[in-house]
Amino acid sequence: MKVLVAGGAGYIGSHCVRQLLAAGHESVVLDNFAYGHRAAVPADAKLHDASLADAAALDCIFKSGRIDLVMHFAAFCYVGESVTAPLKYYLNNVTGTYTLLDAMLRHGVKKFVFSSTCATYGVPASLPIVEGMPQAPINPYGQTKLDVENALKALAHAQSISFAAFRYFNAAGAAEDGSIGEDHDPETHLIPLAIGAAQGIRPALQIFGTDYPTPDKTCLRDYVHVDDLSRAHIAVFDKLAKPGAALFYNLGTGAPTSVLEVIQAVEMVTQLKVPVKYAPRREGDPPALYANAAKAQRELGWKPKFRSIEPIVESAWRWHSRKPRGYEDR
Ligand code: UFG
Repeated sequence: MKVLVAGGAGYIGSHCVRQLLAAGHESVVLDNFAYGHRAAVPADAKLHDASLADAAALDCIFKSGRIDLVMHFAAFCYVGESVTAPLKYYLNNVTGTYTLLDAMLRHGVKKFVFSSTCATYGVPASLPIVEGMPQAPINPYGQTKLDVENALKALAHAQSISFAAFRYFNAAGAAEDGSIGEDHDPETHLIPLAIGAAQGIRPALQIFGTDYPTPDKTCLRDYVHVDDLSRAHIAVFDKLAKPGAALFYNLGTGAPTSVLEVIQAVEMVTQLKVPVKYAPRREGDPPALYANAAKAQRELGWKPKFRSIEPIVESAWRWHSRKPRGYEDR
């Protein structure tokens, strides 16, 4: 397959590009480097420095060679920022995606893999979360992803595109050789912040909320390895051969892990102390989110290789110990 990877220089996109190449597929990366990193793109992937909202650039890419399938990772992903700057999120995550879909359809490409999120569920009525549960996002970020899911359904019906929307839980970890990994600016995610605090290059980790209705009173999340997420994107290819296929999958390990358990794992793996401060709840954080990913297992044969928090943190540590300040390209 020749795959156009929008956002292929970002955290999840860059891991997926690696796996595509390793599996013998061809990768064409589209990234405007608003958040992506050039060093995360392998030399054997063709790179276009352009925005997904740039219809002319998209036309050139689609004209320059047969693209079989589009993967779309190029989204803004800060839940908190989406609350304070919603238009930024709607313009990029929704309008930008529609521009990409429009270009794709104009050039006869009809297979699409979309990065969606567990944030589309909002505060779930029950746990673990299954795909058929109601979706009621509690922030604009989740809403933008749900808007695109709905547009995709309509396009599958009207124009027979086939798509898979993967609802990621908490993406974490790094490539097994530690050569690429997580580097957000600003960083808001628990594992890199905890590791940075342990290394003494970030301030003490704030634990957001110690009064949740969970066993240790901190939030429960489902941390899923970035390479496991990537493997699902390739495992779905066969299913997309059917015109009009409209597929939704949760991608998580199903293991709920608390903030305190993540900190313990970081201390165990790094053999360093994580300095912490107790802080109030962060706005918009649901108490618990974890997946039932049986559908992906059943239909795609997808089974995460990383099934618990320690090996995920170990892989993150390989990256952060090698590159404590990330790609250093800002
Ligand atoms: N947390 C802290 N301190 C920090 C950072 C995070 O205690 O400094 C806690 C959060 O409160 C949360 C957990 O650690 O309970 C995980 O937080 P992250 O910021 O790492 O991840 P989120 O669960 O907020 O976000 C993830 C994805 C989003 C997605 C969201 C859905 O990164 O893209 O899940 O809830 F939308």
